[in-house]
Amino acid sequence: EKGGYDHFMLKEIHEQPKAITDTFRGRMLADENIIKMSSVQDNLDKFLNANRIIIVGCGTSWHAGLVGEYLFEDLARIPVEVEYASEFRYRNPIITDKDVVIAISQSGETADTLAAIKLAKSKGAFVYGVCNVVGSSIARETHAGAYTHAGPEIGVASTKAFTTQITVLTLIALKLGQANKSLSDERFKNYIQKMQLIPSQIQKLLNIDSKVKEIAAIYKDAKNCLYLGRGFNFPVALEGALKLKEISYIHAEGYPAAEMKHGPIALIDENMPIFVIATNKGHYDKVVSNIQEIKSRAGKIIAVVTEGDVTVKEIADHVIEIPETEEALTPLLTTIPFQLLSYHIAVMLGKNVDQPRNLAKSVTVE
Ligand code: F6R
Repeated sequence: EKGGYDHFMLKEIHEQPKAITDTFRGRMLADENIIKMSSVQDNLDKFLNANRIIIVGCGTSWHAGLVGEYLFEDLARIPVEVEYASEFRYRNPIITDKDVVIAISQSGETADTLAAIKLAKSKGAFVYGVCNVVGSSIARETHAGAYTHAGPEIGVASTKAFTTQITVLTLIALKLGQANKSLSDERFKNYIQKMQLIPSQIQKLLNIDSKVKEIAAIYKDAKNCLYLGRGFNFPVALEGALKLKEISYIHAEGYPAAEMKHGPIALIDENMPIFVIATNKGHYDKVVSNIQEIKSRAGKIIAVVTEGDVTVKEIADHVIEIPETEEALTPLLTTIPFQLLSYHIAVMLGKNVDQPRNLAKSVTVE
């Protein structure tokens, strides 16, 4: 059942190329230059005329929603807000029938997300679900939706569910961007071509496992870690920190890199590993200067960079290279090393990787 892997989490990390390919299937028709999603097509007016899209979710699914915010705004020029389902439902939110709510949930059973959907529906919003579990409560409660075809996710720490959620959100954003002409034919085509490469790029990226393991061995005894990223990779920093916390029980925080100097920089000393996403298109120069600030305070830098990077390589203590792609698609790649890192640290510390203490796979109580 674990397919030769020691843990479900490792199996699920390695399943990502296939899971994303399955999520593409029947939807991304590259030769015809179209994205076919009847759940979006049938409701195109609602999406295109929406005042805004509100994305709700919890935990990792909320992080996918944050990536969605960058995607929808950049590719389709539709305003987006992302909310924790638990906060949204209790703060008397202003919702009208001109709003579209996208609810994201792997299990489709999260109590707060389900309650947020019911509330949004009662105010007249159109509610679209992005779920993994077929026939789940959230899948049934939403007006329309798209399944992530990740297959069963057994490990409590979400991995392939996250990347397939981002995949679905990217497909929707591209489809809307094409429909409202925010994306030229040329840009749309280019994105589709780059999307198609993602599964094989992840496959290749998984070969960094031994390198990540070496880094894990060096930093496994850290008491605190920081994860920094900007733009599309800010949510990846949050997700990297969450993965480390939940399975290794090491305290970790994710921050947008520029926020570092507004507080967390006070924590930096030679015992503090800092994981920085510094891929080449995403505000690269700004991230490089953040890295220099950390170095001058003796912090240890582990940087995720684009293949062929030279500048960060010279300053960072360790670098992990990801293949080149469009900036908007980098979260699908930059996420992978952090999943592997958390996995290896948790194994080295003797933790129960698939069943971390105090956590449940689906949170059906608020
Ligand atoms: C993190 C994790 C949780 C879930 C959260 C939402 O690895 O698994 O943070 O992402 O409980 O769960 P779903 O997506 O099932 O609504």
